Amino acid sequence: MAKAQPSDFDWNKLGFGYHDLPYRYRAYYKDGQWSQGGLEEDSSMAVNEAAQAFHYGQEVFEGLKAYRREDGGVNVFRPDMNAKRINTSADRLKMPHIPEEMFVDAVKQVVKANQDFVPPYGTGATLYLRPFYFGTTPMVGVHPADEYTFEIFATPVGAYYPGGLTPTSYVTSDYDRAAHGGTGAAKVAGNYGSSLLPGDLAHKGGYSDAVYLDPRLHENIEELGGANFFGITKDGRFQTPKSPSILPSITKFSLLELSKEFGLLPEQTTISVYDLDRFSEAGAMGTAAVISPVGSITHHGHKHVFYSETEVGPYTTKLYNRLTAIQFGDEKGPEGWAVDV
Ligand code: PLP
Ligand code: COI
Repeated sequence: MAKAQPSDFDWNKLGFGYHDLPYRYRAYYKDGQWSQGGLEEDSSMAVNEAAQAFHYGQEVFEGLKAYRREDGGVNVFRPDMNAKRINTSADRLKMPHIPEEMFVDAVKQVVKANQDFVPPYGTGATLYLRPFYFGTTPMVGVHPADEYTFEIFATPVGAYYPGGLTPTSYVTSDYDRAAHGGTGAAKVAGNYGSSLLPGDLAHKGGYSDAVYLDPRLHENIEELGGANFFGITKDGRFQTPKSPSILPSITKFSLLELSKEFGLLPEQTTISVYDLDRFSEAGAMGTAAVISPVGSITHHGHKHVFYSETEVGPYTTKLYNRLTAIQFGDEKGPEGWAVDV
C-alpha cells in the first residue's frame, strides 16, 4: 500500500477511513515483559498462521484523537483513561497489562512522528489513534498467548456518523452485541464482529447504526454499535444507560461532568425504549462519534422522533461546543483532560 502524503488530503472532506501513514509504534511482549518499543515504517506485520488472536480472539484496542490547536500545537484527550481501559479490557481476555506511562508515551511518539498529518485547526478533522495488541503465540488448543504485539497507528479522520452534527436516524436491533457477564464492557474485536450483521441491516434500512437493547429483556437501551447513548430529559437531566455490558465511554464520563456546567443533572440509569417521551433531545457520544445527534429511533416499526430530524437541540449544541472547545484547546477544561503532545 502506498504511503500517504499530507498533500493527498482535502481536510474539509475527510471520511472515517484508514490511510497508511509513515510511522507507527510497536512493542513486543515475550518472557513476561514488553520490549523497549519504538517507531516502525512498515504497516504490514508477519504473524504466524496459528497466532492466538486469529483463532481465539485475544485482541484489545482503543481509540483516541489528536487535535490541532489554534496556536499550531497538538492536544490529545485524556490518554490516561484509554491506558486504564485497555488494561481492564486485557484483564477480561487474560492478557498482560501495558504500563500506563508506556501507553501515553507511545501515543505522543506516534503523533509527533506523523505531525504533518494532524489536520489543520478549524477543519474539525483530527488524527485518530488506534492502539491495540493481540496474542501472537501459535496454538490450536484454547489458551491465553504468552507473546503479544502492541501497536499504535494513526489515520486522519472526519465525521464517523454520516451527518456529523446533523441528526440522523437509528433503529433497534433484535440481535445482541454483548451479554451480561460477557465482554461488552471490554473494547475487544469480538464485540465488533458480532455487531457487523446488525450494523449492516441497519445501514441497508437507511439508518446510521443499530441501537442495542439489553440482552435479557430487550427493552432497555444499551448503546449503539460504536458509541454510547444519551438523552436530555424535559426536566433537565442528562441521562445515559447504566449497564454492565456497554463500553465505559470516556466521552460519556466527560459529558456527565460537563453537563453540570449547563445546569443539567447527570444520571446513569435505565432507559426503556418504551419511555422515550421523557427526552427532549438525544445523541450518540464517543471518540469517533464525538456528539452525533440522534434524530429518531425506530423500534419494531414505531418511529420516535426526539428534538427534530433536521435541527440540533440547544443542550446538544452546548455540550458539543464545550467538549470540542476543550479538545481543540480553545477553552480550558478540567485538569488533565487536554494533554499537550
Ligand atoms: N461504545 C462503543 C461500542 C464504542 O466502540 C465506543 C468507541 O470507543 C464508545 C462506546 C465510546 O467510547 P469512547 O467515548 O471512550 O470513545
Ligand atoms: C472510537 O470511537 O474510538 C471507536 O473505537 C468506535 C469505532 C466504532 C470506530
